[in-house]
Amino acid sequence: MRVVICQSAAEATERTVATITRQVRAKPDSVLGLATGGTMEAVYAGLIAAHQAGLSFAQVRSFNLDEYVGLPADHPHSYAMYMRDRFVDHVDLPVARCHLPAGQGDPAQAAADFEALIAAHGPIDLQLLGLGRNGHIGFNEPASALTSRTREKALSQTTLDANRRFFGPGMPMPQSAITMGIGTILDARKIVMLALGSDKAEAVQAMIEGPLRAYCPASAVQLHRHVTIFIDPAAAAGLT
Ligand code: F6R
Repeated sequence: MRVVICQSAAEATERTVATITRQVRAKPDSVLGLATGGTMEAVYAGLIAAHQAGLSFAQVRSFNLDEYVGLPADHPHSYAMYMRDRFVDHVDLPVARCHLPAGQGDPAQAAADFEALIAAHGPIDLQLLGLGRNGHIGFNEPASALTSRTREKALSQTTLDANRRFFGPGMPMPQSAITMGIGTILDARKIVMLALGSDKAEAVQAMIEGPLRAYCPASAVQLHRHVTIFIDPAAAAGLT
């Protein structure tokens, strides 16, 4: 595991963007695993800038980590819409090559279909990860099996509280999501994680220095042979 403590959030973000752009330059038909959330917004802005400077995503295929259960792809708060608004509609990646689990319909079927699609096009060359305050990756909440595959997971109260900011006041929030499993994530050839800010410090410490345990799903990255974690000083504050 390579842990890079950067001087600032901006530097950590830039280095994450550079890792992805290097991957796409080296292999234009890369299969990317993508993430959503607040931390990733600046990453997508960086990737759009790289596209404007000449980088093509036309041959890339991407698989997002997760989607809320119950939200159609065209719902303003779906992760499908997040990806279009913040990335896909601004670059040359065809929307048909940007895959997310289906939020509507039978979640078990949607999860099985997503696993089958990854198996057909994978392995994922580079998986981008954020980190939940409670140590989740994707929406693998604490107590997720370390060998889990794509499935529906109930969102923890911590995650519901953290993500409420993306929904309007009084707007009902999905209570579960379909997420790649920890086993699915670990199948990627390489993993790059970006975690920023003091509210991630506890999870960063548990992920890097703590024991491997289902209660901190991110600790599973200790099992992977090619992981780079970019953090800023605030997120690194708990490390010994
Ligand atoms: C979303 C995802 C989540 C987020 C995590 C951090 O696709 O995979 O694991 O990366 O919840 O979210 P932010 O960046 O909003 O703190």
